[in-house]
Amino acid sequence: MRCAYVESQDPEEPLRGLRVGDLPDAGPPLPGWVRVTVRAAALNQHDLFSLRGVGLPVDRLPMILGTDAAGVLDDGTEVIVHSVVPSPAWQGEETLDPRRTLLSELHPGTLAEHVWVPARNVVPKDPALSWTQAASLPTAYLTAYRMLFDAAALRPGRTVLVQGAGGGVATAAIVLGRAAGLRVWVTSRSEARRALAVDIGAHDAFETGARLPEQVDAVVETVGAATWSHSLKALRPGGTVALAGATSGAMPPAELNRIFFRSLRVIGTTMGTRAQLEDLQGMLLATGARPVVDDVVPLDGVGGALARLAAGDMFGKLVVRPGA
Ligand SMILES: NC(=O)c1ccc[n+]([C@@H]2O[C@H](COP(=O)([O-])OP(=O)(O)OC[C@H]3O[C@@H](n4cnc5c(N)ncnc54)[C@H](OP(=O)(O)O)[C@@H]3O)[C@@H](O)[C@H]2O)c1
Repeated sequence: MRCAYVESQDPEEPLRGLRVGDLPDAGPPLPGWVRVTVRAAALNQHDLFSLRGVGLPVDRLPMILGTDAAGVLDDGTEVIVHSVVPSPAWQGEETLDPRRTLLSELHPGTLAEHVWVPARNVVPKDPALSWTQAASLPTAYLTAYRMLFDAAALRPGRTVLVQGAGGGVATAAIVLGRAAGLRVWVTSRSEARRALAVDIGAHDAFETGARLPEQVDAVVETVGAATWSHSLKALRPGGTVALAGATSGAMPPAELNRIFFRSLRVIGTTMGTRAQLEDLQGMLLATGARPVVDDVVPLDGVGGALARLAAGDMFGKLVVRPGA
């Protein structure tokens, strides 16, 4: 089976261990898993983490990359893959299972002709979404959906600041926030990405770290160290930082005094539930909002696309078509 996989890991030069080639299809790891023929699979920072050796032990190599996919079940049903796989005995919400994994951490990922997933981990895909749009949902859009509407519990009319406009989660937060009636402000290091952010729905765009016209109700924070202090300063008293990533570093000064003195809430969140993935698709259908896709490449183009992701040189999702 043709796939993109981690052959070896390098924290400094992650792409050195990437291979595109053939690996055997291992088949279903447990009863009740279903096979999805992958039509499109989106890339995420998670793929670079795996190549760097973060979250993927070396004894699991070679490991097929990819957490996101849309494709077709053997019975012809078109589906979106939910990437959060709980441990077999887990009963509660899947994101809270301490032994949960994402596809490509324990079980082979989605950058392949086929992927096996538990039967409950597929959501029927509406035909109104293209394959590339649907494949963009399971990680970046689901994470942004949960940050806005669950972690930060935002309501129409509230103001949200999205840090780092070009990222997959950030562009998702802009699109979803605008569709939900929020006032959406963004920051970016790049003038071009600030302009693109406004094009896709941001009401205003600021340089990274800039003083804002007023304080905001919530911040969507995935950049980490480079923007953390600004996120805390940007919040009104009682406001919320929804935190789902730390691309630029995870150990900034915590500024605890600012958090308690101004009654800020810091809510960490990871991915989302299958039910939230269904609700996300429903929101797109109801509002007409659609994922922002930067580029679509064949499997042989994964290396180039991951290099762009590593450099932050993209605006929206980079998507792979394994069958192309
Ligand atoms: N917890 C979860 O469930 C979950 C799910 C998805 C992603 N994540 C995490 O969320 C983070 C975002 O992922 P992503 O795929 O959306 O995008 P990403 O490629 O990490 O980029 C996010 C944005 O951060 C900004 N940025 C990066 N380095 C920076 C620096 N040194 N200084 C200032 N800004 C910087 C860039 O924006 P500008 O260049 O426009 O400023 C970039 O476009 C990652 O760390 C990822 O692991 C977590």
